[in-house]
Amino acid sequence: MTNLKTFQNLDSNDILSHFRKEFIHQINEIYLDGNSLGKLPRETEKKLTEVLRYQWGKRLIRSWNENWLDLPEKIAEKYSKLLNVKKDEVIIGESTSVRLYQIVHSLLSTDIYPKQLGTDILNFPTDNYILDGLNKIFSLQNVNLIKYGQEIFADLNLLKDQIKKKPGIYCLSLVTYKSSFLYPMKNLNIWAEKFKSIIVWDLSHAIGAIDIDLKSSEAKICIGCSYKYMNGGPGAPAFMFIKNELLKKLSNPIRGWFGHKKPFNFDLNYIPDENINRFSIGTPPILSLYAMETGIDITLKAGIKSIRKKSLLQTEFFITLLNKKLVPLGYNLESPKEKSKRGAHITISHKFSWQICQALIQGINNSVKIIPDFRPPNFIRFGISPLYNRFEDLFIVVKRLEDIVAGKEYMNFNSEKKMLHKKAFRNYS
Ligand SMILES: Cc1ncc(COP(=O)(O)O)c(C=O)c1O
Repeated sequence: MTNLKTFQNLDSNDILSHFRKEFIHQINEIYLDGNSLGKLPRETEKKLTEVLRYQWGKRLIRSWNENWLDLPEKIAEKYSKLLNVKKDEVIIGESTSVRLYQIVHSLLSTDIYPKQLGTDILNFPTDNYILDGLNKIFSLQNVNLIKYGQEIFADLNLLKDQIKKKPGIYCLSLVTYKSSFLYPMKNLNIWAEKFKSIIVWDLSHAIGAIDIDLKSSEAKICIGCSYKYMNGGPGAPAFMFIKNELLKKLSNPIRGWFGHKKPFNFDLNYIPDENINRFSIGTPPILSLYAMETGIDITLKAGIKSIRKKSLLQTEFFITLLNKKLVPLGYNLESPKEKSKRGAHITISHKFSWQICQALIQGINNSVKIIPDFRPPNFIRFGISPLYNRFEDLFIVVKRLEDIVAGKEYMNFNSEKKMLHKKAFRNYS
Protein backbone atom coordinates (compact mmCIF):
# COMPACT_ATOMS: atom_id res chain seq x y z
CA MET A 1 0.00 0.00 0.00
CA THR A 2 2.91 2.38 0.48
CA ASN A 3 4.94 1.94 -2.69
CA LEU A 4 4.98 4.02 -5.86
CA LYS A 5 3.36 1.27 -7.96
CA THR A 6 0.28 1.29 -5.70
CA PHE A 7 -0.13 5.04 -6.25
CA GLN A 8 0.37 4.73 -10.01
CA ASN A 9 -2.24 1.96 -10.12
CA LEU A 10 -4.68 4.23 -8.33
CA ASP A 11 -4.10 6.82 -11.07
CA SER A 12 -4.66 4.22 -13.80
CA ASN A 13 -8.00 3.28 -12.26
CA ASP A 14 -9.07 6.84 -11.54
CA ILE A 15 -12.25 7.77 -13.42
CA LEU A 16 -11.44 11.48 -13.00
CA SER A 17 -7.87 11.30 -14.30
CA HIS A 18 -8.79 12.78 -17.69
CA PHE A 19 -9.85 16.07 -16.08
CA ARG A 20 -6.19 16.82 -15.35
CA LYS A 21 -5.63 17.79 -18.97
CA GLU A 22 -8.28 20.49 -18.70
CA PHE A 23 -5.80 22.56 -16.62
CA ILE A 24 -2.49 24.26 -17.32
CA HIS A 25 0.48 22.65 -15.56
CA GLN A 26 4.14 23.55 -15.14
CA ILE A 27 6.78 20.98 -15.95
CA ASN A 28 8.49 19.51 -12.91
CA GLU A 29 6.12 21.11 -10.45
CA ILE A 30 3.49 19.62 -8.17
CA TYR A 31 0.90 22.15 -7.15
CA LEU A 32 -0.77 21.47 -3.81
CA ASP A 33 -2.29 24.84 -3.09
CA GLY A 34 -5.67 24.33 -4.73
CA ASN A 35 -7.30 25.20 -1.39
CA SER A 36 -5.84 28.69 -1.69
CA LEU A 37 -5.85 29.41 -5.43
CA GLY A 38 -7.01 26.76 -7.89
CA LYS A 39 -5.34 26.17 -11.26
CA LEU A 40 -6.12 27.90 -14.53
CA PRO A 41 -8.39 25.83 -16.78
CA ARG A 42 -7.29 25.83 -20.44
CA GLU A 43 -10.76 26.82 -21.58
CA THR A 44 -10.73 29.90 -19.31
CA GLU A 45 -7.72 31.24 -21.17
CA LYS A 46 -9.53 30.78 -24.51
CA LYS A 47 -12.81 32.20 -23.24
CA LEU A 48 -11.22 35.33 -21.78
CA THR A 49 -9.30 36.01 -24.98
CA GLU A 50 -12.53 35.77 -26.96
CA VAL A 51 -14.40 38.00 -24.50
CA LEU A 52 -11.63 40.59 -24.55
CA ARG A 53 -11.26 40.64 -28.32
CA TYR A 54 -14.86 40.35 -29.43
CA GLN A 55 -17.26 41.28 -26.62
CA TRP A 56 -15.21 44.10 -25.16
CA GLY A 57 -12.92 44.91 -28.10
CA LYS A 58 -15.58 44.99 -30.86
CA ARG A 59 -19.07 44.99 -29.44
CA LEU A 60 -18.26 47.31 -26.53
CA ILE A 61 -21.40 48.70 -24.79
CA ARG A 62 -23.70 46.47 -26.90
CA SER A 63 -22.31 43.44 -25.05
CA TRP A 64 -24.27 44.38 -21.93
CA ASN A 65 -27.50 43.41 -23.67
CA GLU A 66 -26.01 40.70 -25.85
CA ASN A 67 -24.13 38.76 -23.16
CA TRP A 68 -23.30 40.49 -19.91
CA LEU A 69 -26.50 41.41 -18.06
CA ASP A 70 -27.58 37.78 -17.81
CA LEU A 71 -24.14 36.43 -16.93
CA PRO A 72 -24.33 36.57 -13.09
CA GLU A 73 -27.65 34.67 -13.16
CA LYS A 74 -26.32 32.13 -15.63
CA ILE A 75 -23.43 31.32 -13.31
CA ALA A 76 -25.66 31.41 -10.23
CA GLU A 77 -27.82 28.73 -11.84
CA LYS A 78 -24.78 26.47 -12.28
CA TYR A 79 -23.79 26.98 -8.64
CA SER A 80 -27.35 26.20 -7.55
CA LYS A 81 -27.05 22.81 -9.28
CA LEU A 82 -23.83 22.05 -7.45
CA LEU A 83 -25.39 22.99 -4.10
CA ASN A 84 -28.77 21.35 -4.85
CA VAL A 85 -30.89 24.42 -4.25
CA LYS A 86 -33.26 26.49 -6.38
CA LYS A 87 -31.71 28.71 -9.01
CA ASP A 88 -33.26 31.84 -7.54
CA GLU A 89 -31.68 31.11 -4.15
CA VAL A 90 -28.11 31.81 -5.29
CA ILE A 91 -26.40 35.06 -6.21
CA ILE A 92 -22.89 35.54 -7.60
CA GLY A 93 -20.70 38.58 -7.02
CA GLU A 94 -18.66 40.60 -4.50
CA SER A 95 -16.25 38.86 -2.11
CA THR A 96 -17.00 36.45 0.71
CA SER A 97 -16.15 39.20 3.20
CA VAL A 98 -18.62 41.65 1.64
CA ARG A 99 -21.34 39.00 1.45
CA LEU A 100 -20.88 38.12 5.10
CA TYR A 101 -21.13 41.76 6.09
CA GLN A 102 -24.24 42.23 3.96
CA ILE A 103 -26.09 39.19 5.21
CA VAL A 104 -25.28 39.51 8.90
CA HIS A 105 -26.14 43.22 8.79
CA SER A 106 -29.39 42.26 7.12
CA LEU A 107 -30.19 39.62 9.75
CA LEU A 108 -29.39 42.03 12.58
CA SER A 109 -31.80 44.54 11.05
CA THR A 110 -34.71 42.13 11.62
CA ASP A 111 -36.08 40.51 14.77
CA ILE A 112 -35.92 36.97 13.41
CA TYR A 113 -32.96 35.92 15.56
CA PRO A 114 -31.63 37.14 18.93
CA LYS A 115 -29.05 39.89 18.44
CA GLN A 116 -26.08 37.87 19.58
CA LEU A 117 -23.23 37.16 17.17
CA GLY A 118 -21.02 34.13 17.53
CA THR A 119 -18.29 32.10 15.87
CA ASP A 120 -15.45 29.83 16.90
CA ILE A 121 -11.69 29.98 17.03
CA LEU A 122 -11.36 27.73 13.96
CA ASN A 123 -13.03 30.21 11.64
CA PHE A 124 -11.10 32.23 9.07
CA PRO A 125 -10.05 35.66 10.46
CA THR A 126 -12.00 37.74 7.93
CA ASP A 127 -15.24 36.25 9.30
CA ASN A 128 -14.24 37.20 12.83
CA TYR A 129 -13.30 40.73 11.79
CA ILE A 130 -16.60 41.25 9.98
CA LEU A 131 -18.62 39.99 12.94
CA ASP A 132 -16.62 42.12 15.34
CA GLY A 133 -17.14 45.22 13.19
CA LEU A 134 -20.89 44.65 12.95
CA ASN A 135 -21.02 44.05 16.67
CA LYS A 136 -19.67 47.54 17.21
CA ILE A 137 -22.00 49.14 14.65
CA PHE A 138 -25.06 47.56 16.29
CA SER A 139 -23.68 48.15 19.84
CA LEU A 140 -24.19 44.52 20.85
CA GLN A 141 -22.65 42.40 23.59
CA ASN A 142 -19.28 40.86 22.69
CA VAL A 143 -19.12 38.33 19.86
CA ASN A 144 -19.35 34.87 21.40
CA LEU A 145 -15.96 33.54 20.27
CA ILE A 146 -15.93 29.86 21.20
CA LYS A 147 -12.49 28.43 22.04
CA TYR A 148 -11.62 24.74 22.16
CA GLY A 149 -8.06 24.83 23.54
CA GLN A 150 -6.61 23.47 20.27
CA GLU A 151 -6.88 24.27 16.57
CA ILE A 152 -7.86 20.97 14.98
CA PHE A 153 -11.31 19.90 16.17
CA ALA A 154 -14.43 21.74 17.17
CA ASP A 155 -15.79 20.39 20.44
CA LEU A 156 -19.34 19.90 19.21
CA ASN A 157 -20.83 19.57 22.68
CA LEU A 158 -19.27 22.85 23.72
CA LEU A 159 -20.38 24.52 20.49
CA LYS A 160 -23.96 23.32 20.92
CA ASP A 161 -23.99 24.31 24.55
CA GLN A 162 -22.88 27.84 23.62
CA ILE A 163 -25.59 28.16 20.95
CA LYS A 164 -28.13 27.03 23.54
CA LYS A 165 -26.87 29.46 26.19
CA LYS A 166 -26.36 32.39 23.84
CA PRO A 167 -28.73 31.92 20.90
CA GLY A 168 -28.30 34.19 17.91
CA ILE A 169 -26.48 34.47 14.58
CA TYR A 170 -23.45 32.21 14.32
CA CYS A 171 -20.93 31.94 11.51
CA LEU A 172 -18.82 28.81 10.95
CA SER A 173 -16.57 27.57 8.14
CA LEU A 174 -17.90 24.19 7.01
CA VAL A 175 -14.30 23.05 6.47
CA THR A 176 -11.81 24.93 8.63
CA TYR A 177 -8.90 26.59 6.90
CA LYS A 178 -6.14 25.41 9.23
CA SER A 179 -6.92 21.80 10.02
CA SER A 180 -9.56 20.82 7.43
CA PHE A 181 -12.08 19.90 10.16
CA LEU A 182 -15.54 19.26 8.67
CA TYR A 183 -18.61 20.07 10.80
CA PRO A 184 -21.78 17.96 10.76
CA MET A 185 -23.79 20.63 8.96
CA LYS A 186 -27.29 19.18 9.20
CA ASN A 187 -26.96 18.23 12.84
CA LEU A 188 -25.84 21.75 13.76
CA ASN A 189 -28.49 23.45 11.61
CA ILE A 190 -31.21 21.46 13.36
CA TRP A 191 -29.71 22.31 16.74
CA ALA A 192 -29.48 26.01 15.88
CA GLU A 193 -33.09 26.06 14.69
CA LYS A 194 -34.23 24.44 17.96
CA PHE A 195 -32.67 27.32 19.89
CA LYS A 196 -33.99 30.06 17.58
CA SER A 197 -30.55 30.55 16.07
CA ILE A 198 -29.06 30.46 12.60
CA ILE A 199 -25.67 29.35 11.32
CA VAL A 200 -24.31 31.29 8.36
CA TRP A 201 -21.98 28.79 6.73
CA ASP A 202 -18.78 29.86 5.02
CA LEU A 203 -18.22 27.21 2.35
CA SER A 204 -14.95 28.62 0.97
CA HIS A 205 -12.84 25.56 1.83
CA ALA A 206 -15.61 23.09 1.08
CA ILE A 207 -17.13 24.01 -2.27
CA GLY A 208 -15.79 21.92 -5.12
CA ALA A 209 -14.31 19.37 -2.72
CA ILE A 210 -17.21 18.22 -0.54
CA ASP A 211 -20.58 16.97 -1.73
CA ILE A 212 -22.67 19.64 -0.07
CA ASP A 213 -26.42 19.23 -0.37
CA LEU A 214 -27.82 22.42 1.11
CA LYS A 215 -31.41 21.26 0.77
CA SER A 216 -31.06 18.10 2.80
CA SER A 217 -28.68 19.70 5.30
CA GLU A 218 -31.33 22.33 6.08
CA ALA A 219 -28.97 25.26 5.58
CA LYS A 220 -30.52 28.72 5.36
CA ILE A 221 -27.63 30.97 4.44
CA CYS A 222 -24.22 30.18 2.96
CA ILE A 223 -21.44 32.25 1.48
CA GLY A 224 -18.13 31.28 -0.06
CA CYS A 225 -15.42 32.01 -2.56
CA SER A 226 -14.84 30.42 -5.93
CA TYR A 227 -11.07 30.78 -6.32
CA LYS A 228 -10.08 27.64 -4.40
CA TYR A 229 -11.33 24.20 -5.50
CA MET A 230 -13.69 25.91 -7.95
CA ASN A 231 -10.74 27.21 -9.98
CA GLY A 232 -12.42 30.55 -10.62
CA GLY A 233 -9.26 32.70 -10.63
CA PRO A 234 -7.61 35.11 -8.19
CA GLY A 235 -10.23 37.17 -6.34
CA ALA A 236 -13.05 35.47 -8.27
CA PRO A 237 -16.58 36.60 -7.31
CA ALA A 238 -18.18 34.92 -4.30
CA PHE A 239 -21.49 33.06 -4.15
CA MET A 240 -24.25 33.43 -1.61
CA PHE A 241 -27.22 31.15 -0.94
CA ILE A 242 -30.30 32.42 0.87
CA LYS A 243 -33.24 30.09 1.34
CA ASN A 244 -36.32 31.58 -0.28
CA GLU A 245 -38.46 31.62 2.89
CA LEU A 246 -35.85 33.73 4.64
CA LEU A 247 -35.02 35.92 1.65
CA LYS A 248 -38.51 37.43 1.71
CA LYS A 249 -37.79 38.90 5.15
CA LEU A 250 -34.36 40.33 4.37
CA SER A 251 -33.15 43.51 2.76
CA ASN A 252 -29.81 44.66 1.42
CA PRO A 253 -27.93 47.13 3.64
CA ILE A 254 -25.86 48.32 0.66
CA ARG A 255 -28.36 49.83 -1.73
CA GLY A 256 -26.61 49.90 -5.06
CA TRP A 257 -28.34 50.44 -8.38
CA PHE A 258 -27.93 46.82 -9.50
CA GLY A 259 -30.13 45.74 -6.56
CA HIS A 260 -32.90 48.02 -7.85
CA LYS A 261 -35.91 46.40 -9.51
CA LYS A 262 -35.35 48.47 -12.68
CA PRO A 263 -31.78 49.81 -12.60
CA PHE A 264 -31.95 51.28 -16.09
CA ASN A 265 -34.96 53.44 -15.22
CA PHE A 266 -32.49 55.50 -13.18
CA ASP A 267 -35.26 56.15 -10.69
CA LEU A 268 -34.28 58.27 -7.71
CA ASN A 269 -36.30 56.08 -5.35
CA TYR A 270 -34.80 52.76 -4.40
CA ILE A 271 -37.18 49.89 -5.13
CA PRO A 272 -35.44 46.60 -4.32
CA ASP A 273 -35.64 43.74 -6.78
CA GLU A 274 -38.11 41.08 -5.63
CA ASN A 275 -35.76 38.15 -5.82
CA ILE A 276 -32.25 37.44 -4.57
CA ASN A 277 -30.94 40.05 -7.01
CA ARG A 278 -31.88 42.64 -4.43
CA PHE A 279 -28.56 41.66 -2.83
CA SER A 280 -26.70 42.92 -5.92
CA ILE A 281 -24.78 46.13 -5.39
CA GLY A 282 -22.95 47.62 -8.38
CA THR A 283 -21.86 46.75 -11.92
CA PRO A 284 -20.95 43.06 -12.17
CA PRO A 285 -17.26 42.23 -12.84
CA ILE A 286 -17.73 40.66 -16.27
CA LEU A 287 -14.19 39.47 -16.88
CA SER A 288 -14.04 37.78 -13.48
CA LEU A 289 -17.43 36.18 -14.05
CA TYR A 290 -16.25 34.71 -17.35
CA ALA A 291 -13.03 33.60 -15.68
CA MET A 292 -14.98 31.59 -13.08
CA GLU A 293 -17.39 29.90 -15.49
CA THR A 294 -15.21 27.07 -16.76
CA GLY A 295 -14.31 26.04 -13.18
CA ILE A 296 -17.95 25.39 -12.32
CA ASP A 297 -18.55 23.67 -15.68
CA ILE A 298 -15.69 21.22 -15.07
CA THR A 299 -16.87 20.51 -11.52
CA LEU A 300 -20.42 19.79 -12.70
CA LYS A 301 -19.10 17.57 -15.48
CA ALA A 302 -16.87 15.57 -13.13
CA GLY A 303 -19.67 15.25 -10.55
CA ILE A 304 -19.16 16.34 -6.96
CA LYS A 305 -19.80 12.85 -5.55
CA SER A 306 -16.94 11.41 -7.66
CA ILE A 307 -14.71 14.33 -6.65
CA ARG A 308 -15.39 13.74 -2.95
CA LYS A 309 -14.85 9.99 -3.36
CA LYS A 310 -11.45 10.55 -4.93
CA SER A 311 -10.56 13.23 -2.39
CA LEU A 312 -11.25 10.88 0.51
CA LEU A 313 -9.11 8.19 -1.07
CA GLN A 314 -6.28 10.64 -1.71
CA THR A 315 -6.25 12.05 1.81
CA GLU A 316 -6.50 8.51 3.23
CA PHE A 317 -3.44 7.34 1.27
CA PHE A 318 -1.55 10.51 2.14
CA ILE A 319 -2.20 10.01 5.85
CA THR A 320 -1.19 6.34 5.67
CA LEU A 321 2.16 7.28 4.10
CA LEU A 322 2.60 10.13 6.55
CA ASN A 323 2.14 7.84 9.54
CA LYS A 324 4.55 5.30 8.15
CA LYS A 325 7.34 7.50 6.77
CA LEU A 326 7.05 10.96 8.29
CA VAL A 327 5.82 10.67 11.85
CA PRO A 328 9.11 8.94 12.87
CA LEU A 329 10.92 12.02 11.50
CA GLY A 330 9.06 14.49 13.73
CA TYR A 331 6.11 15.35 11.48
CA ASN A 332 2.59 15.42 12.95
CA LEU A 333 -0.81 15.17 11.36
CA GLU A 334 -2.86 18.30 12.17
CA SER A 335 -6.02 17.25 10.34
CA PRO A 336 -8.72 14.87 11.57
CA LYS A 337 -7.85 11.19 11.05
CA GLU A 338 -11.49 10.23 10.62
CA LYS A 339 -12.57 10.75 7.04
CA SER A 340 -16.11 11.89 7.81
CA LYS A 341 -14.57 14.76 9.78
CA ARG A 342 -12.16 16.18 7.22
CA GLY A 343 -12.20 18.18 4.00
CA ALA A 344 -9.80 17.92 1.08
CA HIS A 345 -6.65 19.50 2.48
CA ILE A 346 -4.23 17.87 4.84
CA THR A 347 -2.26 19.88 7.35
CA ILE A 348 0.93 18.68 8.96
CA SER A 349 3.44 20.30 11.29
CA HIS A 350 7.11 20.00 12.10
CA LYS A 351 9.52 21.94 14.27
CA PHE A 352 11.22 23.17 11.07
CA SER A 353 8.08 23.68 8.96
CA TRP A 354 9.14 27.03 7.50
CA GLN A 355 12.49 25.74 6.24
CA ILE A 356 10.85 22.52 4.99
CA CYS A 357 8.39 24.61 2.99
CA GLN A 358 11.24 26.56 1.41
CA ALA A 359 12.99 23.33 0.47
CA LEU A 360 9.78 21.96 -1.10
CA ILE A 361 9.17 25.11 -3.09
CA GLN A 362 12.70 25.54 -4.37
CA GLY A 363 13.49 21.88 -5.07
CA ILE A 364 17.11 20.81 -5.12
CA ASN A 365 19.35 19.28 -7.80
CA ASN A 366 16.60 19.29 -10.42
CA SER A 367 14.14 17.64 -8.06
CA VAL A 368 10.52 18.52 -8.61
CA LYS A 369 9.25 21.79 -7.10
CA ILE A 370 6.35 21.31 -4.73
CA ILE A 371 4.01 24.16 -3.88
CA PRO A 372 2.28 23.76 -0.52
CA ASP A 373 1.02 26.47 1.80
CA PHE A 374 2.45 27.66 5.11
CA ARG A 375 0.27 28.86 7.95
CA PRO A 376 1.63 30.19 11.25
CA PRO A 377 2.89 29.04 13.62
CA ASN A 378 4.21 25.85 11.98
CA PHE A 379 1.56 24.33 9.75
CA ILE A 380 2.15 23.08 6.22
CA ARG A 381 -1.08 22.63 4.28
CA PHE A 382 -1.48 20.43 1.22
CA GLY A 383 -4.57 21.35 -0.77
CA ILE A 384 -5.20 18.20 -2.77
CA SER A 385 -7.47 18.93 -5.70
CA PRO A 386 -8.97 15.72 -7.14
CA LEU A 387 -9.52 17.36 -10.53
CA TYR A 388 -5.81 17.70 -11.25
CA ASN A 389 -3.70 16.16 -8.48
CA ARG A 390 -2.58 12.59 -9.09
CA PHE A 391 -2.08 9.90 -6.46
CA GLU A 392 1.49 9.71 -7.70
CA ASP A 393 1.99 13.38 -6.73
CA LEU A 394 1.27 12.47 -3.14
CA PHE A 395 3.83 9.70 -3.12
CA ILE A 396 6.47 12.08 -4.50
CA VAL A 397 5.61 14.74 -1.90
CA VAL A 398 5.96 12.35 1.01
CA LYS A 399 9.30 11.12 -0.36
CA ARG A 400 10.53 14.74 -0.58
CA LEU A 401 9.34 15.50 2.95
CA GLU A 402 11.19 12.41 4.11
CA ASP A 403 14.43 13.33 2.32
CA ILE A 404 14.36 16.97 3.42
CA VAL A 405 14.37 15.99 7.10
CA ALA A 406 16.35 12.72 6.95
CA GLY A 407 19.12 14.42 4.90
CA LYS A 408 18.89 17.64 6.98
CA GLU A 409 18.32 19.56 3.73
CA TYR A 410 16.06 22.02 5.55
CA MET A 411 19.15 23.39 7.31
CA ASN A 412 20.15 25.09 4.02
CA PHE A 413 17.22 27.46 4.49
CA ASN A 414 16.91 30.39 6.82
CA SER A 415 14.37 30.10 9.62
CA GLU A 416 13.65 33.83 9.33
CA LYS A 417 10.42 34.55 7.46
CA LYS A 418 11.45 37.03 4.78
CA MET A 419 8.77 39.43 3.57
CA LEU A 420 8.57 39.30 -0.22
CA HIS A 421 5.72 41.72 -0.17
CA LYS A 422 4.88 44.21 2.55
CA LYS A 423 1.80 42.18 3.43
CA ALA A 424 3.03 38.61 2.97
CA PHE A 425 5.90 36.46 4.04
CA ARG A 426 5.20 33.57 1.67
CA ASN A 427 8.00 32.65 -0.66
CA TYR A 428 6.85 31.23 -3.96
CA SER A 429 9.85 32.08 -6.08
C1 LIG B 1 -13.08 30.39 5.02
C2 LIG B 1 -12.67 31.62 4.28
N1 LIG B 1 -13.52 32.67 4.25
C3 LIG B 1 -13.19 33.80 3.58
C4 LIG B 1 -11.98 33.89 2.93
C5 LIG B 1 -11.57 35.15 2.23
O1 LIG B 1 -12.61 35.92 1.84
P1 LIG B 1 -12.44 36.99 0.66
O2 LIG B 1 -12.65 36.26 -0.61
O3 LIG B 1 -13.44 38.01 0.96
O4 LIG B 1 -11.04 37.51 0.71
C6 LIG B 1 -11.09 32.83 2.95
C7 LIG B 1 -9.80 32.95 2.24
O5 LIG B 1 -8.99 32.09 2.17
C8 LIG B 1 -11.44 31.68 3.65
O6 LIG B 1 -10.61 30.65 3.70
